[in-house]
Amino acid sequence: MAVRIGLAYNLKPEAPATAAGATSDSPPSSDDPPSPAPGVSAARTLRSDLEQPDLYAEWDEPATIDAVERALATLGEVIRLEADAQFPARLAAARPDFVFNIAEGLYGPNREGHVPAICEFLGVPYHASDPLALALALHKGRAKEIMAQHGVPTAPFVLARSRDDARNVSLPFPLFAKPAFEGSGKGVSVRSLCHNRADLVAQVDHLLATYRQPVLVETWLPGQEFTVAVIGNGDEARCLPLVAMRFDTLPAGAPPIYGYEAKWLWDTLSNPLDIYACPAPVDESLADAVRAAALAAYRALDCRDWCRIDVRCDGAGNPMVVELNPLPGILPDPRDNSCFPKAARAAGMDYDDLIRTVADIAWRRISGRSLLAGAAA
Ligand SMILES: Nc1ncnc2c1ncn2[C@@H]1O[C@H](COP(=O)(O)OP(=O)(O)O)[C@@H](O)[C@H]1O
Ligand SMILES: [Mg+2]
Repeated sequence: MAVRIGLAYNLKPEAPATAAGATSDSPPSSDDPPSPAPGVSAARTLRSDLEQPDLYAEWDEPATIDAVERALATLGEVIRLEADAQFPARLAAARPDFVFNIAEGLYGPNREGHVPAICEFLGVPYHASDPLALALALHKGRAKEIMAQHGVPTAPFVLARSRDDARNVSLPFPLFAKPAFEGSGKGVSVRSLCHNRADLVAQVDHLLATYRQPVLVETWLPGQEFTVAVIGNGDEARCLPLVAMRFDTLPAGAPPIYGYEAKWLWDTLSNPLDIYACPAPVDESLADAVRAAALAAYRALDCRDWCRIDVRCDGAGNPMVVELNPLPGILPDPRDNSCFPKAARAAGMDYDDLIRTVADIAWRRISGRSLLAGAAA
């Protein structure tokens, strides 16, 4: 009998016509919503009508949900389960054999754990990390504490909960300020790089007011940046080919930061940024150190099935883990430049292969049986 796979997702709403970002074409020097380049989907523009202009940045577009559904449909029967208020009742009624989870949730540091926690409550197995790992990874400060405890290299940091905390930070400048529990570039802008205390206090103030959560203030890492797609569990966990950031592709004058502007506004279908080099053009000893750091972080946080891990080198060239993304972005269109699918393609896996492989990794962990063998039979 076909395996019944629930697909849990959050669908990104389109911005109303009046809610697109500001219209100025000025260089990246302000925190006003930058104007989207031509070709930016309406769902990706910053929303001046919301309390946070990038509130829905982590949610998925219809094309992504459709693409995941199509890939999973080659393995079993797929049941769509939108992770809205009706999700618990929908899941209880459908009772799939397992849930393939790409739902990011909306509010609070535990938002990514909501869907898996509901699955656990109802006794439905699910793919990807558990609520604890998801919440730890989303809280970048907590994730760094766990990493430090396990000897995973990560930059020194403090959490600023007030303007006074920012005034009293004793780490040397330059520093980097970002919301403690956001993702997808939310709250990370060219203004996150602070060269002096006045910049830092202003940016912390702005982030506290906008995101209503502590601000992570950490040592600025000026070196090369990589993102590492990890798949598998236990001894089988492995890295796909490394993706390196090519900061020289950012607009002239922009600092080397892969924040909201670079992720969503400067990189468009009509004018792709080409910021990723995959496989990364680095020597093997650095590549080994980057992979080792990523796998150590994956294990320290008990991630499952898949995760994308950001690593950036400090001034001495040592890789430091910046953050973990246990619900990685997976835009299906190769022109969209999504890292995980790109790394998979460099490993010879197309989009369907990637989703099928990860679903199989999850199902083998859950049931001890292979989904791919079942589908081929
Ligand atoms: N300490 C840091 N030093 C240098 N750059 C950083 C630092 N922290 C973040 N960045 C830059 O900001 C980007 C986004 O930060 P990250 O923590 O990965 O947030 P997100 O969850 O939005 O991806 C990184 O990819 C990197 O380019
Ligand atoms: Mg990141």
